[in-house]
Amino acid sequence: MTKNHHAVVTLASLTLAGCLRYPHASGHLVRTATIAACLADLVGLDAAHCERIRLVTPVHDVGKLAIPDAVLLKPGKLLAEERQVIERHPEIGANILAGSAHALMRLASQVAHHHHERFDGTGYPCGLAGNDIPLAARIVAVADAFDAMTEARCYRPCMSDDDALSIVSAGSGTHYDPDVTNVFLANIAQVLHSRKSAQALLGAGSEMAVVARFYGLSRGALRRIPRQAMRQAMA
Ligand SMILES: [Fe+2]
Ligand SMILES: [Fe+2]
Repeated sequence: MTKNHHAVVTLASLTLAGCLRYPHASGHLVRTATIAACLADLVGLDAAHCERIRLVTPVHDVGKLAIPDAVLLKPGKLLAEERQVIERHPEIGANILAGSAHALMRLASQVAHHHHERFDGTGYPCGLAGNDIPLAARIVAVADAFDAMTEARCYRPCMSDDDALSIVSAGSGTHYDPDVTNVFLANIAQVLHSRKSAQALLGAGSEMAVVARFYGLSRGALRRIPRQAMRQAMA
């Protein structure tokens, strides 16, 4: 098995953990990843780079595994202290994914760490601004926000695509990278098409089947999740 395969199996098993941890996560993770890869292509990244972004996007929220249900699944508005708890998930996720020399794992850690930064520097956890935010995280921020807004969540019903597009557009240059937002808005038909292709993947059945198919792994490979693979990918 190649080192790359070990990293992919590690990402897949962490994605599966996320999918089993909170309701309807698989849909959000698979759609967000597919949209992020589409955006990466639209901003001009090469195919290998787009594929790396697709593979790491589903673990962007892996730090939520450590957030208590009472906060993570709370319907309605969060109190200030609950918000502080949830805002720890990027750091926790980055730590879960950190420590590997493998490029894929490093990118995963970076995306988990910085997907809630805002272009104007008012995001969290580091308050990075502009191009100091890794490009992959700027891309995932747009894909993540759009998909989160257009799916129903425990604390609110879903929004129409048009309403979500207006919100992303209004956040261009403040919340979101204006270049990423521009390609997103200018190529929305392609973006929606990519989302639809992700939806087809979700018909695979169980969470394990969906995750295995997304990562191009056999279900057996995912079920075995070899310890050795974990160790080597993290080495
Ligand atoms: Fe997040
Ligand atoms: Fe998300």
